[in-house]
Amino acid sequence: MTAPLLICEGLSRSFGGVKAVAGVSLSLTAGMVTALVGPNGAGKTTCFNLITGNLRADAGKAMLRGQSIMGLKPHQVARQGVARSFQDLRLFTHMSVRDNVLAATETSAWFWQPGGAAARRAREAATEEALARTGLTALAEARAMDLAYAERKFLSMARILAARADIWLLDEPASGLDLSSRRRFGELLKEARRQGVAICLIEHNLDVVTELADRIAFLDQGKVLAEGEPEAILRDPKLAAIYFGDREDAA
Ligand SMILES: Nc1ncnc2c1ncn2[C@@H]1O[C@H](COP(=O)(O)OP(=O)(O)OP(=O)(O)O)[C@@H](O)[C@H]1O
Ligand SMILES: [Mg+2]
Repeated sequence: MTAPLLICEGLSRSFGGVKAVAGVSLSLTAGMVTALVGPNGAGKTTCFNLITGNLRADAGKAMLRGQSIMGLKPHQVARQGVARSFQDLRLFTHMSVRDNVLAATETSAWFWQPGGAAARRAREAATEEALARTGLTALAEARAMDLAYAERKFLSMARILAARADIWLLDEPASGLDLSSRRRFGELLKEARRQGVAICLIEHNLDVVTELADRIAFLDQGKVLAEGEPEAILRDPKLAAIYFGDREDAA
């Protein structure tokens, strides 16, 4: 069995009296899709924010390839090979589709530094490849703000692809997509899995989870209540009651 790329232990974060994340332990392994599932407000996005340095943890640790990434800034975590998408996408709306993707490839080697021209060419090649794989080549010159909803979701995925990261944290990347777009998204994800990317997918649509996830971590009120194979987790009536908001049955 391969060692996990990313291991989180006891991650915790409160906001005032709200324990948004309360001792979450989670590991991500190359070539595996882990779905983070749970009701609204369960703490899923906050988990991502703690891993990526967008938020400081009150307690706990996150280890990437055996090294702590706690206390690093978001761009530093990104440079260690962790790419993420946001629930609200956070595109550069006034910039072109191509420049949105190019910005995601940023490395420490700038084009005016020795070796920088080659790095720039590699960034441009990664950008064109990501545009092609997400079906956005014909829209490369359009402004992000002029894209349709599904195209914006794929632009967010193109940014992830171009970053060439080995860990992907995806916050509801398939939400609101129609069936054919969802299939295209599924193909992107499966290809990345084949290439050995460790993927964590926050997803509310349980059909998408069933199709794509190798494992589910079920989160509620900041805690991982269960973790395991999708069929076992989704069959559990207690978890279903929590997920669908029928808490009295769950007690
Ligand atoms: N920056 C913040 N300031 C205050 N409270 C926050 C902040 N971020 C999250 N919370 C609270 O922490 C809890 C967990 O929120 P989080 O966004 O992580 O949930 P989620 O599982 O991603 O939910 P959803 O499925 O709706 O996206 C919620 O009660 C939320 O209101
Ligand atoms: Mg969320």
